Amino acid sequence: MSEWHIGVIGGSGLAGGVGLENAQEIAVESPFGEPSSAVTTGTLAGVRVTFLPRHGIGHAIPPASVNFRANIDVLKRCGVTDVIALSAIGSLRADMAPGQMVVVNQFLDRTVSRPASFFGPGLVAHVSLADPVCPRLSEGLADAVAAEGAVVHRGGTYVAIEGPQFSTRAESLLYRKWGGDVIGMTAMPEARLAREAELPYALLGMVTDYDAWRTHEAGVEAGDVLAVMQANAALAGQVLRRFLASLPETRPASPIDRALDHAIMTAKAQRDPML
Ligand code: ADE
Repeated sequence: MSEWHIGVIGGSGLAGGVGLENAQEIAVESPFGEPSSAVTTGTLAGVRVTFLPRHGIGHAIPPASVNFRANIDVLKRCGVTDVIALSAIGSLRADMAPGQMVVVNQFLDRTVSRPASFFGPGLVAHVSLADPVCPRLSEGLADAVAAEGAVVHRGGTYVAIEGPQFSTRAESLLYRKWGGDVIGMTAMPEARLAREAELPYALLGMVTDYDAWRTHEAGVEAGDVLAVMQANAALAGQVLRRFLASLPETRPASPIDRALDHAIMTAKAQRDPML
């Protein structure tokens, strides 16, 4: 059996799972509260995979109410070694068209109301987030998309908005000026928390719309997003299977596995014994 254990977080239109073999549903508890749902664990292409639908069963959890800390914590408790997030994204660029895929490599975080760290009073830590995604997962995913014959953009800056409303045209135009390439409501603080949990993280975004910056066109509607996601859900599953099949049996250590080594500032004697 492969040494990899991939956690997959499925976004809008991808709650149906990824066709795991020998699938088992497990309700895992977290001190951070309720995760979005029970996880489903099984195998795909000979690799252990644990799946969690980000918006819960039946898409009942809006972006700002997703318990990102519990979700990442639960995946960590399951023994996941790496996390792949699948998300619907809007495009801020003409050359990133609906139906295409973007393997995101940077973030601009505009979320405001979400607990964004496992650390706090009693235990202070500052992980590096300069390179917030795992390069080897990202490259493997991009290769898998290309091998499936779909268009993939290798890298892109994701603007994380609070939602749940889509952006105004003025905001959309501003995010383009800032250097944003794609936009979504959920990758933050997910990516931050994965780093704090020492879990390499990659984000495969599926472009569903052009957001609101094309002023001569209608703005984005949720129905458009879901329709494109549903049309591409099978592709996401095929990409994932191909990616998993490409993994070597052994998993070389990643520097992200040790992200906390030099991050904790609080002296040992000062640390809250409850943490
Ligand atoms: N998810 C998919 N499309 C989006 C958009 N245009 N803005 C925010 N989140 C999205």
